[in-house]
Amino acid sequence: MTSRFPGKHFVVGTLLLATMGCSPGSGGQPEPGTPAYEPPVSSVAASTGSAAEAPSLQMSAGAVPDDPLRARASQRFGMLESQAFPDDPKVRLGRALFFEPRVSADGNVSCGTCHLAARGGADGLPKSKGVFGRDNPRNAPSVYNAGLQFTQHWRGDRESLEDQARKALLGKGSFGLESPEKAEAALRALPGSEQSFRAAFPDDPQPVSVENWGVAIAAYERTLTTPAPFDAYLAGDSTAFGDEAKAGLQSFLELGCANCHDGPLLGGKAFRKFGIKADYASLTASTVIDAGRFDVTGNEGDRFVFKVPGLRNVSLTAPYFHDGSVSELSRAVEVMAEAQLGVKLDAPVVAQLVAFLHSLAGDAPSHFAPPSVSAPASARP
Ligand code: HEC
Ligand code: HEC
Repeated sequence: MTSRFPGKHFVVGTLLLATMGCSPGSGGQPEPGTPAYEPPVSSVAASTGSAAEAPSLQMSAGAVPDDPLRARASQRFGMLESQAFPDDPKVRLGRALFFEPRVSADGNVSCGTCHLAARGGADGLPKSKGVFGRDNPRNAPSVYNAGLQFTQHWRGDRESLEDQARKALLGKGSFGLESPEKAEAALRALPGSEQSFRAAFPDDPQPVSVENWGVAIAAYERTLTTPAPFDAYLAGDSTAFGDEAKAGLQSFLELGCANCHDGPLLGGKAFRKFGIKADYASLTASTVIDAGRFDVTGNEGDRFVFKVPGLRNVSLTAPYFHDGSVSELSRAVEVMAEAQLGVKLDAPVVAQLVAFLHSLAGDAPSHFAPPSVSAPASARP
């Protein structure tokens, strides 16, 4: 398999360079364990007293009243803030490792193979392909903003970003390494790894470890937030998103989409059954039926239960659903309305919802790219 990642050879040999700070003291600060992660979320304080009295909004009304809608949306969702790339050896190491294919069993696969800037942090495939072209059972969600979710993976079988990154090393369809020992050996074999792991984990007598791979990559992932026009709207900029998106936001609230898709990610906070009002596969034409969280817990009540995905960047991450069975966002919206709410939506409402969902797409963070030799991460402002 040829590498789909053009930077592969560029990265070779640069791990050390890319991850060492230029400032002499930057690697020497002892840090007590993993710092508690503070999500970059702020709910918008409504500036007027009218915020609390969210009026009942008419879905069919032509003009959408602006300020009450914003106040209501601010209560229900919440803003994302962009993260600067911090001057932290751990984050620099995590960035280099994220784009490092030499760790994988066939030398071709990195996290960046399936989580691409050009695809909103996902990969654009119905189901991902890992080492030796092996198929994954599910669709790749975006890595952007993932750290703000209550659990990772469609079925919640990864408890944190750290856990996710460590287990990816052993996943048959991702990195394909046979054991934690082999994974650690692969990390050790990276030129410069001893020094860059030591800089990131100065208090650890054995810094090159699968454990620290997880910590470093997770620290990097937490910098990948993507504020969008919707956030500008919540912050008070009424020009940030158009009338159709506003009407879509109103429908999203009125229809009950926000009962599941709420919080700053518009999801990522709970598990729910896919197919409450109608069997999901009859709507998605899925050929393989995934029992969802049932396969993780064995509880009958978890059959067809999946994590409610966040909808940030959803317009960039087709195809949709855990199995990538639906390629159009408009169809995904129709499926949701039928499967979860038991309603068939008219085409104009679907179009408005889609316009709203487009307003959730932010720019790829500028540091969502392999570190380069000519401009090491540490040299950037
Ligand atoms: C072969 C493609 C592939 C590779 C390589 C890969 N991923 Fe993923 N990633 C996926 C797929 C598929 C899922 C969904 C798995 C599931 O839910 O069962 C996923 C899920 C995730 C999630 C959870 C997102 C969510 O919303 O639940 C995160 C975070 C993530 N990957 C980060 C990483 C990191 C970090 C690496 C490298 C250590 C990595 N991925 C390597 C395909 C890949
Ligand atoms: C009862 C909870 C619930 C409601 C209500 C709900 N959703 Fe969902 N939504 C989910 C779940 C669970 C999934 C994941 C389904 C899967 O792929 O297994 C999902 C997936 C999606 C996806 C696909 C995301 C992706 O990355 O593949 C979109 C788009 C979406 N919902 C939009 C909507 C819209 C628009 C509405 C209102 C019309 C809505 N949802 C109502 C729970 C809900």
